[in-house]
Amino acid sequence: MSATIKKLIVLTSGGDSPGMNAGLRAVVRTALHNQVEVYGAESGFSGLVHKKLIPLHSRSVANCIQRGGTILKSGRYPEFEDPKIRAEAIQFMREQSIDAFVVLGGNGSLAGAALLHEESSIPFVGIPCTIDNDVSGTEYCIGFDTACNTALQAIDKIRDTAFSLERNFLIEVMGRSTGFIAVNVGIAGGAEVITIPEFPLSTDSLIEKIRYQHDKKMASIIVVAEANEPGHSFDLAKTIKAKTGIDYRVCVLGHTQRGGSPTVKDRLMGSLMGSKAVEALLDGYNHHMTAVVNGKIVAKDHSDRDQTTHLFTDENLLRINEIICGK
Ligand code: F6P
Repeated sequence: MSATIKKLIVLTSGGDSPGMNAGLRAVVRTALHNQVEVYGAESGFSGLVHKKLIPLHSRSVANCIQRGGTILKSGRYPEFEDPKIRAEAIQFMREQSIDAFVVLGGNGSLAGAALLHEESSIPFVGIPCTIDNDVSGTEYCIGFDTACNTALQAIDKIRDTAFSLERNFLIEVMGRSTGFIAVNVGIAGGAEVITIPEFPLSTDSLIEKIRYQHDKKMASIIVVAEANEPGHSFDLAKTIKAKTGIDYRVCVLGHTQRGGSPTVKDRLMGSLMGSKAVEALLDGYNHHMTAVVNGKIVAKDHSDRDQTTHLFTDENLLRINEIICGK
């Protein structure tokens, strides 16, 4: 199976993630290599509605592989849930004789892309990009590795001051409703306790762990997943203080985790998935996403716009952390 594609749109949508630029660069250059014209829609799906298309040439994506964020700009665009707004985007794409589109983004963005395809029949391939690593159907989402490394650097720095002043810290990391970042950086950063929404700890068992650590260690670090409630660590610190008298300083890492120069892994994943997305479209795939499956990059069906968030399931990692952190 193969398809004739002459004109392609690419866009980056939702929360930006480091490595998106590498993906964009690969999409543009693979398309040009195959004599496909490429246009970028600025600021995500809203660029299709507000008719903001930028012609992309090989030089347009020069010198961006090392940059965080997205040179095409991104955006959260809840208006796109309205079928009338999507109809405007479809009309614009038809006026422009667009043969296919590539969307780089997380769950919401790939769901938006699936809807746009369903309503227009214009072929698309999505590329999973989110620091949360929570897109179903892929073992990896672009940006996760960089975000983990950024958070880890912060934890290492906090550990210096925690040790010097014998202070305890709650370090809150992003991840929306999932605990992938928290588990990875918690283990790698030597956190005494890791709390994640998939395996919630009751207050009593958290307090028990804290008391145990307090008797044995000069300072302890707890990595707390934001769990859909950014900033909730401040309340947690108050609860701990009220129940145990033990002070915990709070550091919410927040959006620092979304920025920064992408790691080797995210540049590589961006490059390989970007290239795969265009090749898949040329091969006739039309409602798919690039995905890592058993360590290999493949094109996978993505017609299900109601796909659920991929959650962290490997509880054994939390058990291992308890053992190696001296519980
Ligand atoms: O999905 C990526 C992410 O950074 C989440 O980890 C976080 O909960 C959310 O986006 C923050 O969104 P915003 O930048 O819109 O506040």
